[in-house]
Amino acid sequence: MKNFQNKAKLSTYISLLKDRGTSIGFVPTMGALHNGHLSLVNQGLSENDIVVVSIFVNPTQFDNKEDLVKYPRTLEADIALLKTVGDDRIIVYAPTDEDIYGDNIKSQTFTFDGLEHEMEGAFRHGHFDGVGTIVKRLLEIVTPDAAYFGEKDFQQLQIIRKLVELHHLPVKIVGCPIHRADDGLAMSSRNARLTPKHRETASFIYKTLKTAKKKFGTKSAQGVTEWVTEQFKNEPLLELEYFLIADVKTLKPVKRKSTKKAYRAFIAVYAGDIRLIDNIALN
Ligand code: PAF
Repeated sequence: MKNFQNKAKLSTYISLLKDRGTSIGFVPTMGALHNGHLSLVNQGLSENDIVVVSIFVNPTQFDNKEDLVKYPRTLEADIALLKTVGDDRIIVYAPTDEDIYGDNIKSQTFTFDGLEHEMEGAFRHGHFDGVGTIVKRLLEIVTPDAAYFGEKDFQQLQIIRKLVELHHLPVKIVGCPIHRADDGLAMSSRNARLTPKHRETASFIYKTLKTAKKKFGTKSAQGVTEWVTEQFKNEPLLELEYFLIADVKTLKPVKRKSTKKAYRAFIAVYAGDIRLIDNIALN
């Protein structure tokens, strides 16, 4: 498996591949890879000749210093895991902060037609400027035909679609279904940091989302939101940060349901000091 740390060398190698007509898929990650990432890589491998996987804990998208410091970094294990799915068709790009940012670790400021102000944007200040900055840079370095993102970070996915549209980046963005553990918890690198008790209780999040989906058939968005809020009051190990039902296109909270629109329920929860997010399609 080829492994690059330097963007110029990677770009040169990718240019050679493209000259030979090789199609390139791209899976950007922050490492601590799990089966959710592997499902993105596998989808990339099924649709492209080669898949580039970037492994880079992007400092500019963390609004919380401690979260950045404690974010798991497991490069060797990540590479070993990638080898199990496609040793000769995967390229790893694991740059240093300097290779990406030089000596100026700062994000650009973006607007994404207002998508950036909702949910994660409201609770994690500057997060989507950081995500926009790194994803734009990585897309410019890797120049893939298609890039794969998980629907667990659904708002991020919609923002990246908007980034590509607004900046005319020549890449197809592919959203991939959420990968879940057997008990329903959405796979996330942060799950590894849950205490056993919190890990056990965290399955409550998806269970609640599934029931919320059922209730949305007969109740208003407000009614469902009140019900969910009530459920979390009875679950002392989990602290609800937000639950809301939003239009999938605008990500604005729904006021009155329309049969012509598609909705999703979004949730952010603290399990101890670990912040977990999840979402579910409602119609
Ligand atoms: O979803 C993630 O892991 C990150 O936000 C991404 C897209 C790799 C950018 O750092």
